[in-house]
Amino acid sequence: VKIRGLGYVGFQSPEVKQWEEFGTELLGLGLLDGHSNDGSVYLRMDDRHHRWAIHPGQTTRLAYAGWELKDKDDFDEAIDDLRRASIPFESATDEQLADRCVMEAVRIVDPAGFRHELFYGQGVRWRSFLPGRNHQGFVTGDQGMGHLVLVAPEYEEFHNFFVQTMGFPSYGLRRIPGAGGMTFHRCAYGPRHHTLGLLGFGGVRGVHHVMIENNDFDDVGFAWSMAQERGLHLPIDLGRHRGDEMLSFYVETPSGFFIEYGYGGKRVDEELLRNTVTELRFGPGDPGSYWGHKTSGGLPEAMTMPSVLEPA
Ligand SMILES: [Fe+2]
Repeated sequence: VKIRGLGYVGFQSPEVKQWEEFGTELLGLGLLDGHSNDGSVYLRMDDRHHRWAIHPGQTTRLAYAGWELKDKDDFDEAIDDLRRASIPFESATDEQLADRCVMEAVRIVDPAGFRHELFYGQGVRWRSFLPGRNHQGFVTGDQGMGHLVLVAPEYEEFHNFFVQTMGFPSYGLRRIPGAGGMTFHRCAYGPRHHTLGLLGFGGVRGVHHVMIENNDFDDVGFAWSMAQERGLHLPIDLGRHRGDEMLSFYVETPSGFFIEYGYGGKRVDEELLRNTVTELRFGPGDPGSYWGHKTSGGLPEAMTMPSVLEPA
């Protein structure tokens, strides 16, 4: 499956209304008005129709992750790949296509129970993006909207599904003391350093964080300062990762999972991939950052903290 990047994410959450303020004032996302009348909040990061949808519901969960394919040819090829791998799929309904504003999509469920959508052709309106606050915009384009980190109780099958069927090459396994594995994956057909992270923790499943990347470092500083003024929980403070070299901090969203709010991530273009050592070995107690990223609890406590995690 030739996935180019993360196209959109959809969450279900009781805290849908709080996202209007959190998304626009803190994160600088643009609010899309009048798209549906069921109370869903749609947030924009660029000229795409939207990148975030928060749908009202009793509990918080990832409703779907939308993975982008280049065109109809790659979409048809993806369906052949799913058939060959005996992965059951269903076509998105007309209502779902209109909601996501995409040409075509198929829906699949991974071994941990998360729903994914493979799509192409999301609507774009040239020069229509207006950020929610004074903001210099987000790094999207050929890198997609960012990255998604999922937590699952059964790591191996989950991991194999994404590597073998979905086409997400891995940077190698990192063991977390007292927990399962942790791997970072790039799209084989996209330049973002990693688009997917998989964490294995016994007994829980959920979303750890979604990373979005800013064009301007000051937008990270501004949000970091505002988050503290508003008394928001920063589970992982400002720092710079090794790996993707992202300078970022993590903030708890109104729905309980985290957003990594970043700047300066490394692209992995083909040339770079051929000439770069991508496997990194982490020593015990190494947080995987050049500096900072101080956690408000030790590992793995910090990793299991999002309240959106549910018993599996
Ligand atoms: Fe991240």
